Amino acid sequence: MNHSSGNDADRSTDPVVSVLLDPDWASGSLVDDVRRGLGSRPLRLPPKWLYDDEGSRLFDRITKLPEYYPFTAEHAILDRHAADIAAACDATTLVELGSGTSEKTRLLLEALHGTGRLRRFVPVDVSEGILRESASLIGEHWPDVTVEAVVGDFTLHLGHLPRGDTRMVAFLGGTIGNLYVEERAAFLGALADSLDPGEWLLLGTDLVKSIDRLVPAYFDAEGVTDRFVRNGLHVLNRELGADFDPGAFGYVAFWDPHMERMDLRLRAEEPQQVTIPGADLVVDIAAGEELQVEISTKFRLEGIRGELAAAGFEVAETFTDPDEDFALTLARRV
Ligand code: AVJ
Repeated sequence: MNHSSGNDADRSTDPVVSVLLDPDWASGSLVDDVRRGLGSRPLRLPPKWLYDDEGSRLFDRITKLPEYYPFTAEHAILDRHAADIAAACDATTLVELGSGTSEKTRLLLEALHGTGRLRRFVPVDVSEGILRESASLIGEHWPDVTVEAVVGDFTLHLGHLPRGDTRMVAFLGGTIGNLYVEERAAFLGALADSLDPGEWLLLGTDLVKSIDRLVPAYFDAEGVTDRFVRNGLHVLNRELGADFDPGAFGYVAFWDPHMERMDLRLRAEEPQQVTIPGADLVVDIAAGEELQVEISTKFRLEGIRGELAAAGFEVAETFTDPDEDFALTLARRV
């Protein structure tokens, strides 16, 4: 592990940044994912590769679309209930998985800070640049809170989160919905293993609702989500020297009522052969064949409770927005 802090040595608020990812993590695990996902059927690309600079910019635009209700709904819950969440737990450290630059984190930090108990903030993200930027902004805004940022992959590094006091792990945005059922159980189990009894989880989940609202949220009128998903092919072209023609694919977003999830795919409009030198792979894609890029699972409150219980968490309180579009569940490790 490699500890370093900013270069302004006489500023006590400079965040500590621990880098748990080795420098070739991104390239190495992209190659593995591409070999696995595009080397067999059905064709798949894990959604984490959508978030390069362009993808992060596009995702940011998605959160501002009128059709994309999850962002607004979760924001409304935090606006209204951050203080209740802070009052319902005794956390002294806030750990945020996949923190990015989120302004929602600030609402939570403000509320926890207001209890007088908050000592430490641990943002965890794979993107070192964004992490350093937001870590120092937060260090400046709350000088009495120690910031210990972790550059890490939350699917790999849960066992290495800083310990020492009572932590609350926040996993917001509904990102848990990106995981397949078995990955979700493994993730929640690993998270429970990494926490001590009495520590906390704050989990954001999007809820099952009418298909008339679900589909437009992922198939917006402006086509921003289409570009966001299609950007995955540009990432493969740039990072692995692939020769995908992004224009030769159509964007497909549908509600899978059996799995209760949105399913986002790219469908080949015509047969094509794609060469991916960086992964040593040639893929023959038939006309109409689909590449699954992202799932976004929607939850029911009973289901969340059950999955959390199976992993070793007991729900303390559930907070929803007035329309019950989204839920924030506060749970305690038993
Ligand atoms: C960031 C995973 C929560 O699933 O709603 C939004 C990603 N993809 N539009 C979601 C996403 C297309 C988003 N999460």
